[in-house]
Amino acid sequence: VATSMLHAQQNKAIYSEAEVPEYTLPDPLVAEDGTKIESASQWTERRRPELLELFEKEVYGKAPPAPEKISYEVTESSDDALGGIARRRQVAIQLTDDPKGPVLNVLMYLPKTDKPVPTFMTLNFYGNASINSDPAIHLPEGWLRNNKEKGVEDHKATEKLRGASEARWPVETIVKNGYGLATAYYGDIDPDYDDGFQNGIHPYFYEEGQTKPKPDQWGSIAAWAWGLSRAMDYLEENPEIDGEKVIVMGHSRLGKTSLWAGATDPRFAAVISNNSGCGGAALSRRRFGESVKRINTSFPHWFCDNFVQYNHNEDACPVDQHQLIALMAPRPCLVCSAEGDRWADPRGEFLSAHYASPVYELLGVEGLTTEKMPPVEQPVLSRLGYVIRTEEHNVKPRDWDRYMKFADAHVVGKKD
Ligand code: GCU
Repeated sequence: VATSMLHAQQNKAIYSEAEVPEYTLPDPLVAEDGTKIESASQWTERRRPELLELFEKEVYGKAPPAPEKISYEVTESSDDALGGIARRRQVAIQLTDDPKGPVLNVLMYLPKTDKPVPTFMTLNFYGNASINSDPAIHLPEGWLRNNKEKGVEDHKATEKLRGASEARWPVETIVKNGYGLATAYYGDIDPDYDDGFQNGIHPYFYEEGQTKPKPDQWGSIAAWAWGLSRAMDYLEENPEIDGEKVIVMGHSRLGKTSLWAGATDPRFAAVISNNSGCGGAALSRRRFGESVKRINTSFPHWFCDNFVQYNHNEDACPVDQHQLIALMAPRPCLVCSAEGDRWADPRGEFLSAHYASPVYELLGVEGLTTEKMPPVEQPVLSRLGYVIRTEEHNVKPRDWDRYMKFADAHVVGKKD
């Protein structure tokens, strides 16, 4: 009885600070053998690789290296999109050597200019056609999560999908501000359901006889992040894009993904996490809102199997999520929370940025410039930035305004 009561208690989500257990965070600036990290080179050569490897092994799983060559095909292109203000490009990137293997369809809207443009790279939840009602966008062909309202029936896109998520994607504003937007459907890389890793990208990398990833090999989040890197391979080769100014942004599970992409791929010039929560920006040891056990139970395919060891056992994990934020340093990184998104633990997201700050400072750049969690709607847009807005778990036009202001200051170098 006592044990089952304990379990019931442990399984209940924590929603008050008083219930947050006491915890000690692993120090980003102390190596696993106890050595203090006191110089930028010690961080870069020793501690950073060590932390990255721990996150690979214990949390997200290790992804295979980039393929030697990527092939892609421009499937559609127009210099007169969005009422004449933008160029539209649709490109199919072959993710493996197998011509029948998975293809990542990237949609781009780019400002009309002769110069290469800074660009936001963002995965989407319902296919490229969901982000804007532009009829030229190809409808996604693969599996989608059923959602009648969004126009998905029997896991297939219908015409109703067009523009169904457009409230989250202020494309015109982005383009008018001089930024490109590149987006792709995350399900092109790995459909988001637990099928024991039989579909999607994973099987293409199995050794002979292997039927699922090993406990320290990539789950779906690592696969989506790997797909973002393949998009980056292409963006770097596209002369219309400024490959040194690609900002990876993601919301929710795709916010977790953008952080992991930023950690594993230093080519992303800046990283933005929106409402990423557990396994993203939020500290796991707080167990506030969604816990490690809960996320591993509801979404067994997101993380690697080793992560299950830390169900109700967060303190045993050698890393916590502030160290993930630290892996972005010295690159600009913006952590965004929402007041109504308590499941994602806004305070835990703030604290991650706070505790990552010493790494930025060691590297000689500005960290988070506030010690205290800022009030709602008062963004702190320092190089390591944090903002909490009102309202629910979502992406709002004003979120994008902040991403652009942040990128203006830290990626493009424009002042206010
Ligand atoms: C669920 C899940 C979160 C995730 C979110 C999303 O709420 O528990 O971890 O971030 O879905 O991706 O929308």
